Amino acid sequence: MQWKDEYSVGVAEIDDQHRGFIDLFSVIDSAIGNRERWSEVFFKLEQLREHARFHFAVEESLMRIHGYPKLQEHIDLHKHFLAKLDQLQMTTLSRQVTMDTVQYLRDWYTEHMQGADRDYVRYISGAVRMAGGS
Ligand SMILES: [Fe+2]
Ligand SMILES: [Fe+2]
Repeated sequence: MQWKDEYSVGVAEIDDQHRGFIDLFSVIDSAIGNRERWSEVFFKLEQLREHARFHFAVEESLMRIHGYPKLQEHIDLHKHFLAKLDQLQMTTLSRQVTMDTVQYLRDWYTEHMQGADRDYVRYISGAVRMAGGS
């Protein structure tokens, strides 16, 4: 899976973090494709979780600072992703994870970037402009 310009939300820092997700999904795919040990796949999913935690905290702080009205809704979406990731990680303990099982997370995140994330960025960009008085 490659980064596409259409994924951009228009804020370099956030785009860089989103690129991190795409990269990690590729790393996880390779690990599964190469039939690496479950512990390797588990470790890579753990890296995805660390990255997601950090990124979600950044986004939620931005939304809070700018008084984004759909903050709680967005937090719930992030929680959903982490819960699905938890399930997937538990799966690695008992059986072989396939690329299909990772596909759900990837599709979910791709949609999230282009939908909910774009929405809050649009809101806070407007809020910043208003605060700047232009
Ligand atoms: Fe995001
Ligand atoms: Fe988000």
